[in-house]
Amino acid sequence: MSERGPPPPTPAGPAPTLAAERPALPLVHLRPTLLSDLDYVQTVETDAANRPFISPWERVQHEGALRFPDLRHFIIEAGGNDVHGRAEGFVILQGCRSPHKSVELKRLVLQTKGRGLGRACVRLLKRLAFRDLHAHRFWFDVTLLNTRALALYASEGFVEEGRLRESVRLFGEDGDGYDSLVVMSLLDREYQARVALGLEASPAGA
Ligand SMILES: CC(C)(COP(=O)(O)OP(=O)(O)OC[C@H]1O[C@@H](n2cnc3c(N)ncnc32)[C@H](O)[C@@H]1OP(=O)(O)O)[C@@H](O)C(=O)NCCC(=O)NCCS
Repeated sequence: MSERGPPPPTPAGPAPTLAAERPALPLVHLRPTLLSDLDYVQTVETDAANRPFISPWERVQHEGALRFPDLRHFIIEAGGNDVHGRAEGFVILQGCRSPHKSVELKRLVLQTKGRGLGRACVRLLKRLAFRDLHAHRFWFDVTLLNTRALALYASEGFVEEGRLRESVRLFGEDGDGYDSLVVMSLLDREYQARVALGLEASPAGA
């Protein structure tokens, strides 16, 4: 007969997950966007799932972003650096040559949501901004209705700076209205503190 007692009680719920303890991020990498990618970019940008959260650019704006050195336009690809992976979305950075070292995440759009690709991209982009572009500040604005993006950015260390009230016009079946923009940023010292805490582990394919 076993002398062991009953098993210890299990905790009431899952332990809270620290950012560093999250499941491994999917492999993604960035490659420069080519003119031949712009049909794909515009298809993703105008997808009904993305339209509530972004104002699509004219093609000529994208073409300009490919040429203008202050901007960086990337295709997000699945997999590590050494593979030519499936396109998953695109990114635009602005202010890459800013004398104020203030780099803006102008646009981040993923085709497939909720698979961790957004978090993997945000990690890569922070590293690109602070390590490669030597940014002092990495910032963006995001609509208040974009709860998914807000949750992602807050959990990746971005701080809300303020709101641009009712600055985006909304057109809906129930009538028109306005949404506000939330301005968020991360400073280089805040990023370095996260690195020191092990909160900035990047996908291995980066
Ligand atoms: C916003 C976006 C980039 C996020 O990428 P994603 O791959 O969908 O996000 P992830 O799977 O990495 O999830 C990141 C976090 O978002 C939050 N999240 C995910 N789905 C959510 C939902 N349906 N509602 C609220 N929050 C959600 C969670 O906090 C999640 O983290 P966790 O699962 O580790 O807890 C992507 O959804 C997208 O391209 N959306 C449309 C365009 C857009 O809004 N761009 C950003 C403009 S600033």
